Amino acid sequence: MFPLFVCCFLSIIATSFGLPTEPDFGYWNLTIIGGASATGWRYQDTTSIFYAADAEEGSALVKCHWVYSPETRNETMECTDSSFSYQWGDEGRTRITVQQTLNISIDGEARSTTLGGTADVTLRYGTSANGRGFEGKVLVLARRCCLGRMND
Ligand SMILES: *[C@@H]1O[C@H](CO)[C@@H](O)[C@H](O)[C@H]1NC(C)=O
Ligand SMILES: *[C@@H]1O[C@H](CO)[C@@H](O)[C@H](O)[C@H]1NC(C)=O
Ligand SMILES: *[C@@H]1O[C@H](CO)[C@@H](O)[C@H](O)[C@H]1NC(C)=O
Repeated sequence: MFPLFVCCFLSIIATSFGLPTEPDFGYWNLTIIGGASATGWRYQDTTSIFYAADAEEGSALVKCHWVYSPETRNETMECTDSSFSYQWGDEGRTRITVQQTLNISIDGEARSTTLGGTADVTLRYGTSANGRGFEGKVLVLARRCCLGRMND
């Protein structure tokens, strides 16, 4: 109860003084390409670039490869940065949540901070020869949050 009270009390103060309740950290620019085979294999290749709020150029490029095997009924996700992860919010893949630990500047000081964000995605389907491909691009605003929430 107490931490919740502190959180909301502070945010009421911030709002009443016209201050933003959350600083703008930047955004992830994601490209998602996926598909499936007739035999039930499914894959997704995701590329992420982070654009810090104060930076001209993107950084922290990450590539992830996800595969589902119908034989083992198992899925594996591999990302080039282990602090990065993403998750679909629904079966239809219309909402994505991203999390990454980044070295960002807060009050002029570089700090390692875990940021997260959620955005709605519109994927285009039928992008591969077998008709089972899809792709999409989405920008996800980065907020300081989410640690521990991703894998609930
Ligand atoms: C997002 O990345 C794409 C390349 O995949 C690029 O063409 C586009 O300009 C980027 N958009 C923003 C807003 O960073
Ligand atoms: C399923 O995936 C998990 C983690 O990705 C791995 O540890 C496990 O060995 C896999 N099981 C099979 C049957 O492949
Ligand atoms: C974070 O960035 C600063 C400045 O760019 C650099 O000096 C520092 O070594 C970086 N820290 C990590 C953990 O990468």
